[in-house]
Order: sequence, then C-alpha cells, then structure tokens
Amino acid sequence: MIQLYWKNATAEVVGQTNGISPDDLQEIDAPVRRAHSTVLEQCATQRLGYAALPAHAGYLGQVMELVDRYRPDTTDMLVLGIGGSALGNIALQGALNPATYNLMSDRARGGPRLFVLDNVDPALVGDTLRLLSRRLKTTLVNVISKSGETAETASQFMIVRELLRKKLGQRFAERIVATTDTEKGTLHDIAKADGYAMLPVPPDVGGRFSVLSPVGLFSAAMCGIDIDQLLAGAAAMKNRTENTDWRETPACVLVAIKYVAFTRKSKPMHVMMPYSNRLFPLADWYRQLWAESLGKALDRDGNEIFTGPTPVKALGTTDQHSQVQLYREGPNDKLVIFLTASKHPREVRIPDVFADRPGLTYLRGAKLSGLLEAEKHATEYALAFSQRPSVTIRFDNVTPFTVGEFIYLYEFTTSLCGELLNINAYDQPAVELGKKGAFALMDREGYGEMKAQMRPHLRMDTRYLV
Ligand code: PA5
Repeated sequence: MIQLYWKNATAEVVGQTNGISPDDLQEIDAPVRRAHSTVLEQCATQRLGYAALPAHAGYLGQVMELVDRYRPDTTDMLVLGIGGSALGNIALQGALNPATYNLMSDRARGGPRLFVLDNVDPALVGDTLRLLSRRLKTTLVNVISKSGETAETASQFMIVRELLRKKLGQRFAERIVATTDTEKGTLHDIAKADGYAMLPVPPDVGGRFSVLSPVGLFSAAMCGIDIDQLLAGAAAMKNRTENTDWRETPACVLVAIKYVAFTRKSKPMHVMMPYSNRLFPLADWYRQLWAESLGKALDRDGNEIFTGPTPVKALGTTDQHSQVQLYREGPNDKLVIFLTASKHPREVRIPDVFADRPGLTYLRGAKLSGLLEAEKHATEYALAFSQRPSVTIRFDNVTPFTVGEFIYLYEFTTSLCGELLNINAYDQPAVELGKKGAFALMDREGYGEMKAQMRPHLRMDTRYLV
C-alpha cells in the first residue's frame, strides 16, 4: 500500500507563509469536498473513462490473448508511440523490471527486450533499428496511436513497416500489433488492410490517462509484469478515493496541499523527486499528466486565467548534487513531492574496509538502502530548515500493485485539481498549433496558407546571430 506523509508541508514545520495551516484547511474544506463529490459522480456515471479501467476485464482478456500468442516467439519488442502512447509504457517497464533488463540473457529475462521509440531523432531510430535488424523475425512491433496520424509515430511506423516488409515478405503483418481506435482512423484502416492484430485505445480515455488500458498493459505483460496486480492496485486506490471523509483520502489531501501551495503560498513549481531510480520514470509520466491536463489559458466559463503548476522532475540522491542548492536558496516557489520505497529488490552492503580512514568509517558495513534513506531524510530536513515544503509518497515496496495505486492516485488527483481550478483537464488545445506547424513545414496538403504565415517567423535574422 502507498501512503502520503504531509507534515513537512504544514505551517507548523515551514511557517505560515509557505505551509498549509489549519485556517487554510478550513477554507479549502468546502471546495475540496465539492471537487471530490463531483469527480466521484463523474466516475459513477461513466463520464471519466479512465476510472473504469481498473475493472475492465474485457481489455485484460484481449491483452492476455495476444501475449499468449506472441510471447513464446518474441525476443524483442519495439513500441512506436509518443506522449500518452509511450510514457506509461516506459514508466511501467522502468518501475517494475530491473534497470538492466535489456542486457540480461533471454532466459533470465523471461520476456522480450523492450525498446520504446518516443522520438524521431534519426540517431535514436537508426541505432535501434540497426540493433534489431538481425532479429526482425522475432521482433514484435507495437504501434500505438489513438488518432493514428501523429507525425512522429506515423513516420516511425512507415519506416519500420517497410523494413519488415522487405525482410519478411508477405509475413511482415504477423509481426505488428496496432493499438488504436477500434472504429476509424488512418492507422486503424492500414491495420485492417494489412491484417495486423489490433488492440483498442478506449474512445473515452485521453492518451495521458490511458496507461491502464491496452496502451500500457500490452508491452508490460509481454515483459512479464503482472498486470492483474497492477489493475488490482489501481482498483484499491479507487476504493480509497471513495472514502467520504476527504481528509482520510490520499488524493484529496494531496490535491489540497498542491492547490493551496499553488494558489496561496506562491509555489507554482511542483517537483517530483523519487529517491529510487525505478520510480524515476513515473516522474516523466506525471509531468505529462499534470502539464497537459492543468496548463490552461481559459477556465470553463471562458475567462483567461493562464493557470497550471509546472511539474518538474528530480532524482534523489543524484540531484542533491545538482538541484538542491537552488531548491534551498533560490526562490521559495517549489513544493517537493518525494517518492520513496521502503523495500528494495536487492540490497548492497558496503564492505568493512578502510578502518584507518576516519572520514569513511561511518560507511563501513552500512547498507546502500540505509544511505539512500538517510540522504532522503536529510534533504527533507534541509528543505524544511529553509522553510521549503515537501510531501512524501511512500511505497512500502515497488510492486505492480503499488504502482497501480500510484497511477490511479495521480489520475484522480489531476481530475480533482482540474475541478478546483475550474478548467477542462481532459483537452490539450495548445499542443495543436505546433503539430499543425510541423505539418505545414513538411508540406502536408491543406497547410500551405499556414506555411506562408509562418515564413516571416522562420526566416533567420542575422542581426541576432552571434
Ligand atoms: O495525452 C495525449 O493526448 C497526448 O500526449 C497523446 O497521447 C500524444 O499526442 C499521442 O497521440 P496519439 O496516441 O493520437 O498518437
């Protein structure tokens, strides 16, 4: 089970100006209560698609059927996707398989190596395809795109499909699974025409909320992650959100702290800092969820508000030696969200050496887990000493169950925050202009006028070139 510890975000620890006080809690009581009941009502009436995913036996069955079909003869899996169609896959793999997973022998891994191409950097794509070129017969490509026309995913797909077609001939289609809209769209139509196996992207679930759908579940299950437990953890957190006392509900307490920090304590920067390499990719997943959902120009009444806390990621202890100077002495504009794991899949003990070196004596015979924990507490203390608020989300162990809990916790917290800010947390209108601009610059039909409009901005003005 995961737990939230929030004393270090209170006025008692970091002072009235920076921490949440009993008065703040009193003032936020009614708005949080309202947001909580609104979001619960949306879940109950099936208006929040992601809330139905933990109990969706149908998707689980479809995913497991393809896992049973493909896993025995797949040595490598290549996921093509971006944003919500990749970050969840990366987060699950990073959290729940060893960091060295792709370097392990086939026997030790038990599932395929996993490569997620979430960019169109030619070096990344070229190097990955070169690596896989001799194992294409046993490589499974999972192309994931809800819209089916995202430029990055479409271009990767065109490259990889052609490579497979040339190397495998007519059988190339057997090595592709398309995860996309079940009814329509370019990828859907190609998948039907070529005859790929298909998995659905739920129509009522936005990309960044889709990790617990076939989007995230398929690659996870192929790589041996227990997706039953993942969904069970999400379901358990969903149950906890249904507690009518919001002060006993982790998502409500978390959103209250974040909302008060953002709106009343001048803390627009929300830094997620796992003290665990395995939990670090979850911070990337969080950044997209939080940024695309909450960064909005307009409220739901059409007023300009330009709102949204900025999600930032940092890694403990690594970033103690990079960011913490700023976090303690720079602007007091941050709320730090630590993630910690009480148990680790491996322990490493420091040998009992250098007895003659007083500067190293304290390390002799200590466990690395103990050092990691001490460093986290020390940073928490150092931040509090400088009146910088923090909260801790504690995983007793990083398992599919607790990762499922965390995912649902953050999805629900995002919905609550959208309610409190009075914004639509489920669209991303500002992403569109950049996408269309790229279409225009790549000469997509119908974007000629836009290209002409962009031209003056793109012409290099050498007065500003040094
Ligand atoms: O959260 C979102 O909606 C986006 O990040 C999308 O997931 C991303 O743009 C990819 O879109 P698609 O799955 O349609 O290719």
